[in-house]
Amino acid sequence: MKTLIVKYLPSGANSNTKKLLDIFLEEISGKEIEVLDLLKDHMPIFDEASIQAYYKRNYGGQKLDANEAKLLEKNDQLIAQLKSSDVLVLATPMHNFGFPASIKAYLDAVMFNGETFEMGKKLMSGKKSLTLFTAGGIYAENSFGLDYPNWNTLTMAAKINFGFMGFDESEVIGTSLRSEPEKNLAAAQEKIRSVTKKWY
Ligand SMILES: Cc1cc2nc3c(=O)[nH]c(=O)nc-3n(C[C@H](O)[C@H](O)[C@H](O)COP(=O)(O)O)c2cc1C
Repeated sequence: MKTLIVKYLPSGANSNTKKLLDIFLEEISGKEIEVLDLLKDHMPIFDEASIQAYYKRNYGGQKLDANEAKLLEKNDQLIAQLKSSDVLVLATPMHNFGFPASIKAYLDAVMFNGETFEMGKKLMSGKKSLTLFTAGGIYAENSFGLDYPNWNTLTMAAKINFGFMGFDESEVIGTSLRSEPEKNLAAAQEKIRSVTKKWY
């Protein structure tokens, strides 16, 4: 059972989100993990040539020549890494009410038709995802919309995308450590523990 940690923690040692990830790692110590650090490993972004190759292969069912295949090589590596994992953990701050660009870029890089999703199928069944995030504000956990406190598009995007790919479960644990940090961190720790108890 392998856990893939995909982290984007630009605040480094001072990161609030790192506190949640450290609690999770402590809970699963001894288990097999692989780490993808989005500060070190930059995600591919489609350009005109690579999106054409994607359409040709993943929607048109056609074979790519060596040059075209090279354009999707990084995506293919990331997809293989994700498929070889049983649990995917995203660790990220909230930026502008949602996922920071690098986490979105990761999802865009691995959400490939016929590989990680297909209409009417659950290609990622058997897998689970856990999204850990911190924000400055406090938001509703399960209602989304234009009026505060419903602005948390990060949780909404995690639930939609992992559900769409067919993950068996997609948990999201987020908190704010701006006010009452000890109390909020302890509450997040309880939630993380209940997930690790259930899955490991
Ligand atoms: C560029 C940027 C955008 C942010 N956008 C939001 C936001 O939309 N909503 C919010 O509640 N907090 C926002 N914050 C605050 C962070 O989410 C919060 O401080 C978080 O705990 C930072 O996590 P970190 O220490 O792991 O980087 C933002 C912070 C930065 C730097």
